[in-house]
Amino acid sequence: MNFDALRQQVKHQTDEKLLHLISSLPDHAPRLKQAMQHALLVGGKRMRPLLAHLIGNSLDIPQQDQLTISMAIECIHAYSLVHDDLPAMDDDDLRRGQPTCHIQFDEATAILAGDALQTLAFSILADQPMSDYADGQRARLVSILAKAAGYMGMCGGQAIDLAATGKSIDIEELTRLHRLKTGALLGACAQMVTQVAPSISDQDQQSLINYARIIGLAFQVQDDILDIEGDAQVLGKPQGSDEQQGKNTFPGLLGMTQAKQELAALHDEALNTLASLPYNTDYLAAFTDLMVQRNH
Ligand code: IPE
Ligand code: IPE
Ligand code: MG
Ligand code: MG
Ligand code: MG
Repeated sequence: MNFDALRQQVKHQTDEKLLHLISSLPDHAPRLKQAMQHALLVGGKRMRPLLAHLIGNSLDIPQQDQLTISMAIECIHAYSLVHDDLPAMDDDDLRRGQPTCHIQFDEATAILAGDALQTLAFSILADQPMSDYADGQRARLVSILAKAAGYMGMCGGQAIDLAATGKSIDIEELTRLHRLKTGALLGACAQMVTQVAPSISDQDQQSLINYARIIGLAFQVQDDILDIEGDAQVLGKPQGSDEQQGKNTFPGLLGMTQAKQELAALHDEALNTLASLPYNTDYLAAFTDLMVQRNH
C-alpha cells in the first residue's frame, strides 16, 4: 500500500472505531454526548494515529494495539482543542471548518465534553482490546499518556502559552512551550507504541521518541506559520488568530524567513534521527515531509 492509501486507511479506521465507541455510550446526557461526538468526529487529520501506525508497522505491532493507542491519543487531542478554543483560552469560533464546540453547544457543555473526552482516553487504554503482551503494559501506557497530557506536557505548555500571551518571551522559552504543548503528545505516540514492542532496544526506542518530539515541535512551528500565511477556508480555523491574541509564535519572534529556516532545520534533524534506525523508515520520512509541508 502506498503512503497516501495508508494515510486514508488509518483515518478511516480511527474514525470508524471512535464513532462506534461514542455511539455505544448510553443516552442519559445527550447534549454532552453530541458535543463529544462533534469534538472527536467532525474532521481532524488524524496525524497522531498515523504516526502511531507508521511506527507500529515498522515494529510489527498488532493492528489492535495500534488502534487502541490511536483512539486514546485522539481523545486527548480532541479534548485539548475544545479547551484551547474556549473564550478563556484562545477564544476561537472555527475549528475543522465547523463552529467550535462552545459555539455549537455552550461553554459549560464544551468544558464537560473536554473533561469527558480526557477520561475516555484513559478508559480506552484500560479497557479496549489489546494483544497479550500489550495487555501487560496498560499501566505503563496510562502513565505515559497522563504525563504527556498533564502538567509535565500539554497542560504545562498551554499554561506557559497563556501566561506569555501579550508579553514577549525569548526563543528558548517559546521552544520549550511548543515542545510541551504540542511535542509531548506526539512524543507520547512514539513512547506508547514502542512500549508495546517486546524486543525493541532502548536505543531505538529513544531515537523514535526523540524523532516524534522533534517532529512535534516542527508541527507547531508550521502551525504558527499557517496562522499567518494559511487560508482560513483551507485551514478550517481562523487565520490571524495568534496575532490578534498577542501569542508568541516562531514567525512573530524570528520573522517569517528565519522561522522557515528553523522549520527546515527541524525537518533535517528529524530525518537524521530516522536514518540511525535499523528499519525501513521510508514512510516515516514521507510523514516527516507531510508534517512540515502541509497547508492545513
Ligand atoms: C492542531 O492540531 C493543534 C496543534 C497542536 C497545532 P492538528 O492540526 O493535528 O488538528 P486536527 O486534529 O487535524 O484538526
Ligand atoms: C496548540 O496550539 C493547541 C494545543 C496544544 C491544544 P494552538 O492554539 O496554536 O492550536 P490551534 O492553532 O488553535 O489549532
Ligand atoms: Mg492555543
Ligand atoms: Mg488555538
Ligand atoms: Mg495555532
